[in-house]
Parts: sequence; C-alpha cells; structure tokens
Amino acid sequence: MSRLLTSSEGDVARAADALRRGALVAFPTETVYGLGVAARDRGALARLYAAKGRPLDHPVIVHLPSVDAVAAWAREVPAHAHRLAAAFWPGPLTLVLPRAAGVPDEVTGGQDTVGLRVPDHPLALRLLRAFGDGVAAPSANRFGRISPTTAAHVVEEFEDVDVLVLDGGPCRVGLESTIVDVSGDAPRLLRAGGVHRRALEEALGERLAVADDLLERETAPQAEGDRPPLSAAPRAPGGLPRHYAPTTPAELVAPDLLDARRRELGAHVAVLARRPAPAGTDPWWLELPGDAPAYGRGVYAALRKLDTSGCSHILIEAVPDGDDWLAVRDRLRRATGGGTAGATSRRKEDGA
Ligand code: TXA
Ligand code: MG
Repeated sequence: MSRLLTSSEGDVARAADALRRGALVAFPTETVYGLGVAARDRGALARLYAAKGRPLDHPVIVHLPSVDAVAAWAREVPAHAHRLAAAFWPGPLTLVLPRAAGVPDEVTGGQDTVGLRVPDHPLALRLLRAFGDGVAAPSANRFGRISPTTAAHVVEEFEDVDVLVLDGGPCRVGLESTIVDVSGDAPRLLRAGGVHRRALEEALGERLAVADDLLERETAPQAEGDRPPLSAAPRAPGGLPRHYAPTTPAELVAPDLLDARRRELGAHVAVLARRPAPAGTDPWWLELPGDAPAYGRGVYAALRKLDTSGCSHILIEAVPDGDDWLAVRDRLRRATGGGTAGATSRRKEDGA
C-alpha cells in the first residue's frame, strides 16, 4: 500500500532513509512525480522496474542534488553540455551523457550513456540532499500510462505496491523534461518537454538536431488503422509510439471536425478542447487553456479525469502547429497512438 508523506523535516528524513533501505519513494518535481530508488542499488532498481511493469532495456533518469554531482555519474562533460547545465539546471532538462564506470546497467538500459537531471522543485532537492547521491526515477505511473502530476495520482497508480509518496502539491510544468543527447559531437533533441527548443538553441548558439522519431511523427502522423501494437520496441531511446495513454479509446480531431465526430460517436463521448462546451455546461466536456504552458500543466490531469468518467471515447481537439506546442503535440500523439486524419489544427487564428 502506498503511504503519503508531507514536506516536514521528519518526513523528508524518513523518505531519505527509505531510499537507503532500498524502498520506493515517489516525489514531486516541477515536471511530473517521479518514482525513485537509490540509483546504485540494483535490488531496488529491480523492484522499481517490477512495480512499473517497465521493460528492462528502457533507461531511467538519475536525479541529482546539484551540478557538482554530475562528475560521479558521467565520465566526460562536453562544452555544449556545460552550457546547457549552466543555463537550465535546476530545471526541466535531462542531459544524456557518456556514463561513468560503475553506473548500473539497470539505470542505462545497457547503453553507454546515462540520463541526468537536477530538478527544480524544493521538496525534490531537499530529498536529494538528504539522501546524498543520485536517485533513479521514471515518472510515477505504470508503464505506458498517463504520468502523474499530483500525489493523489501516484497513490491511484500504485494502490497495491509499497511506495512512500512525498506530497508537494500539483506539478508546475505538468509535462516531462526535455531530453537532449549531449554524448556525441552535436547535441540532439530526443524528447520535447519543459524547456523550449528555441531556448536550448539560444543557450547553445547553434541549431539543435532533432531525433528522427520526433520529426517523423511531427510531419507524418499514422493513419488510424496503422496503430502500432502496445508492445512495439522503441524506435528511438526517447519513447514508444503509444505512451502516456488513457485506457479509453482516444483520438485527435481537427477543431473544425470536432462537433461532427462527436455526433457520429454518440452520447458517451468525452471531449478535451480549448474552448467551452457549445451548450455552456457539459459534464463530458473539459476545457483547457489556449496557451501552451497552461495547457501542458493541465493535460495529464484532464486525461485522467476523462479516462475514469465512464465515457466510451475521448476526442481531443488538435492543438496548433509550431514549436510552442511541440511537447504537447508529442504527448497527444502518443496518447492517441499516432494520430488520425485531420489531426492538425486548422484554426485560422492559431497561426503556424
Ligand atoms: O520530467 C522527467 O523527466 C520525469 C521526472 C520524474 O524527472 N521523468 C521521466 O522519466 O519522464 P521516464 O522514465 O518516464 O522517461 C525517461 C526517458 C525515457 O524515454 C528514456 O528512454 C529516456 O528518458 N532516457 C533515459 N536515459 C537515457 C539514455 N541514457 N539515453 C537515451 N534516453 C534516455
Ligand atoms: Mg514516463
């Protein structure tokens, strides 16, 4: 059974002790809640993978209390990695670096690199300092499911597993960290997230290459019938084609097709849109804000709510093109298994 802890000194110390004993401790970050274990404890890592139902070759991010701790986990830190760490840590950015000797294979998925991040959340940093070493933490959800942005979400996910859950309130960013691979000659964006692509390029002083996986799904959404199976192997280390997914069938719909598609599917269809319900109030209709950061903050909680509402389908109004919505679009594509015809936003006022 999972148990809630507060942000008191005593509870933070209790959580750090639990990590030392090899237990699972969920904690808030500015992005989403993480499910943490001591990153050098192979037994605890095995329990973490089992609790999540996560494939063993899927690497996890090591959370560090400060930039100084990087030397214990990465064997070299190229100049462009230094620039990104200085500009964005603590913050919603994960850097993939050449791993240091002794970093467990369970952390790296057997790769020669390790993902590192200093989170920008006071409670996470207090826990990391109290523990004193790296904490391996994937998002605190079952594998492939919607990431948690409140402590209550974590408790829902792990009802039957022993997890201590530090409650730090709702997450400020609401989407996972941006991941940049800085292990090679040129930095490469692996996952869009809390740090904007443009901000990365400004800090680097150069254009950022983007992983094929991210690009491909940006330009060529798959047809409805081509949905890859849930068990498909990752096409890039960044993630799977179907991920962050509700159990209810969900599809992306262009704004101007939303009403027609809703009528077609019948009475028990839920809608997630950027405008109010046509009739004013409607329990099956959730409205999210029209600006990307606020939408990102609320989208996982909204999907969770609709997923447990008893609806037959979830229709998600497609969001605008362009870099501001890159991370949101990526998560919506994954939540719906690749997108559908007409998924691109066609609202004139959305711009490019
Ligand atoms: O915001 C976040 O990053 C959250 C919070 C808890 O920090 N964590 C998170 O972890 O989203 P997770 O496990 O759900 O996603 C981690 C992603 C995976 O897609 C994984 O493939 C990638 O990071 N990753 C980790 N280490 C990597 C490595 N060495 N090379 C490439 N990708 C890596
Ligand atoms: Mg995750």
